[in-house]
Amino acid sequence: MLIEFILNGKFVEVEVPVNWTLLRLLREKLGLTGTKEGCGIGECGACTVLMDGMPVNACLILAPKVDGKKIETIEGIGVRESLHPLQKSFIDHGAIQCGFCIPGILMSSKALLEEKSNPTREEIKEAISGHLCRCTGYHQIIEAIVALRKQ
Ligand code: FES
Ligand code: FES
Repeated sequence: MLIEFILNGKFVEVEVPVNWTLLRLLREKLGLTGTKEGCGIGECGACTVLMDGMPVNACLILAPKVDGKKIETIEGIGVRESLHPLQKSFIDHGAIQCGFCIPGILMSSKALLEEKSNPTREEIKEAISGHLCRCTGYHQIIEAIVALRKQ
């Protein structure tokens, strides 16, 4: 099936099997391997991307559903030479260990801060509650997001 969508601000037209997930499309056809595959069944949050600004599990979205949508992945938010403020804050707060969960958590954090510039700690915990991190214990991740709240 031929689908068209906006990926990280650029128009994309791509042929994809109807049974492929968005995660597979991103990683295997479009080469965007920053979005990680953990559980593959919607439970770990590693594959989180933004669809029309909302966090979704790319492992649960069939690629044809993306037709006409706007998708944002970790590759679209910052580059090594020009990091997104969240990426910088995560580094500054020691919030990254192995890093596997981090692209997904960054996408959910970005969506939260775009919706609410001054979220409570509870709202931050809720926003990242769908993400499993086996390394950090979450404390530094929450502090990294707290640091970007605007009063
Ligand atoms: S890989 Fe999608 S939620 Fe775990
Ligand atoms: S930093 Fe390793 S899983 Fe989160």
